[in-house]
Amino acid sequence: TNEISKVRNLSQIQIGQHLVEPWYFSPYPVEFTEEDTIYICEFCLSFFATERVFARHRQKCTLLHPPGNEIYRDDAASFFEVDGRRQRTWARNLSLLSKLFLDHKTVYSDVDPFLFYCMCTRDAFGCHLVGYFSKEKGSPDGYNVACILTLPQYQRSGYGRLLIEFSYTLSKREGKQGSPEKPLSDLGLLSYRAYWQETVVDALLETKGEVTVDELAQRMAMTPADVLHTLLSLNALKFYKGQHVICLTDAVIAQKEKQKEKQRVKGKRCIFPEKLIWKPPV
Ligand code: COA
Ligand code: NA
Repeated sequence: TNEISKVRNLSQIQIGQHLVEPWYFSPYPVEFTEEDTIYICEFCLSFFATERVFARHRQKCTLLHPPGNEIYRDDAASFFEVDGRRQRTWARNLSLLSKLFLDHKTVYSDVDPFLFYCMCTRDAFGCHLVGYFSKEKGSPDGYNVACILTLPQYQRSGYGRLLIEFSYTLSKREGKQGSPEKPLSDLGLLSYRAYWQETVVDALLETKGEVTVDELAQRMAMTPADVLHTLLSLNALKFYKGQHVICLTDAVIAQKEKQKEKQRVKGKRCIFPEKLIWKPPV
């Protein structure tokens, strides 16, 4: 990893049908940073300085989806598992692209230790990358997500939530309890807090009788620490007759009803665990 603390160096990228303005510095080769626009092939993620060279590339590029196994497919989306060691160039291109939207100072040029779970929407032209998360092959700290990104043109549409839900679906399949790598960005934290609150409240509403933090954590493949923090943030831990009890406040239940209504109107997407065709990598 290289230490990088520089200002934004690209003014605009074109990817698929989208023109996108980068947020942060990314170490693309300097000869590209002088261009007004750089052109990124949405399938192989190679980058080009001029439209002409890019058009020539598009004539030749045969890739129609991320270069890995499709491990999940439902009506709305597909997930591909890409091995950083086997698809080093693609994974490095993905890291370069995502660094444009990530504030941390390091770029992971060593992609070999990571798997990349790439979410795509499908149409007649191929599988279009919407977002992804990376995951260390066997994280010693029990992290189930290293980096997570929804491409800006798709943000605030619920995809980040789906990526998070997918990361916990993998953890469930592994029989592990996971948590994202720290520190999270502001947007990362907002998204995780929203996901954790929603799933913990759902789990509590489904629970008849008594339940412990550890049981909740296990059921959702979350760490007990993340469950505990979520319960505290929901003001759901009460001291009653000499014991700690988990209890949802009326405000939280009312908020839940509002959220349900919003999701009913917007059409809530979710991950269907039975559509995950995947065994944990050995
Ligand atoms: N402002 C306020 N709340 C936000 C928010 C924002 N800009 N972005 C996400 N949230 C919260 C909201 O509660 C949102 O639910 P809502 O839209 O129903 O209110 C919830 O998070 C989920 O949002 P969602 O649309 O599913 O997330 P997303 O697809 O926009 O992706 C990130 C979220 C974090 C992946 C995305 O912002 C991103 O890629 N950021 C840049 C990279 C990054 O910082 N990654 C994390 C660190 S590794
Ligand atoms: Na962010």
